Amino acid sequence: MRKKIVAGNWKMNTLPAEGAELAKGIVAQRATAPAEVNFIVCPPFTHLSQVAEALKGSNIALGAQNCAAEEKGAYTGEVSAAMIAALGCRYVILGHSERRQYYGETSETLNLKMARAYAHGLTPVYCVGENLEEREAGKHFDVVKAQIEEVVCNLTPEQFAGLVIAYEPVWAIGTGKTATADQAQEIHAFIRKVLADKFGAAAAETPILYGGSCKPSNAAELFAKEDVDGGLIGGAALKAEDFLGIGQGFAK
Ligand code: 13P
Repeated sequence: MRKKIVAGNWKMNTLPAEGAELAKGIVAQRATAPAEVNFIVCPPFTHLSQVAEALKGSNIALGAQNCAAEEKGAYTGEVSAAMIAALGCRYVILGHSERRQYYGETSETLNLKMARAYAHGLTPVYCVGENLEEREAGKHFDVVKAQIEEVVCNLTPEQFAGLVIAYEPVWAIGTGKTATADQAQEIHAFIRKVLADKFGAAAAETPILYGGSCKPSNAAELFAKEDVDGGLIGGAALKAEDFLGIGQGFAK
């Protein structure tokens, strides 16, 4: 049975005190969503300790949105995997399309980041997805395959066993335009096949999350699909009711 996961990527939103309030709201309303759903919140670095405090004693996990490719040292402005792990993070989002697009993250950088994450006991939530031009040119399968092969296929079987993947078509992020449930299923099944070609039966256990304008009103339809194991949520993760409402998509 694959893990069901709803992860919130807060991106560069909220101030620390607001983030702590949001986390408290999620904890307070946690019981409105099915117990078997694993919730993860990924606030900005600056909020991690306050949010960790707010989540204490709950079953909601903490994650960060990025980590440095290097272990430590003279890398002004960077935040290391060891630092976020020390603040209580269990997860780290890596390879988000906004990092690839605006900060030039390549597979080469992501291989280093993945290694740092695993070295500090963090579980990566590795993001893949094509942009609109690639989708329209029918290249989405090739793009996603390359993003998997260039990074995930370098993992050891032990590392792969803990991995979470998020498929986020760039054209669906923050646009209100969600992939249809059939489009999501088609590419999630494809991703699982690429993983199975490398890692065999272990691929059946990898949670593959969908991200891109996922909200309470469309979560149930997406999560009903065989290979859609949850969501990576942006905008709708900033309201406790909506975030947990997406988790309720598993109950329907
Ligand atoms: P939205 O849910 O705001 O479309 O963002 C998705 C996303 O990028 C999550 O990482």
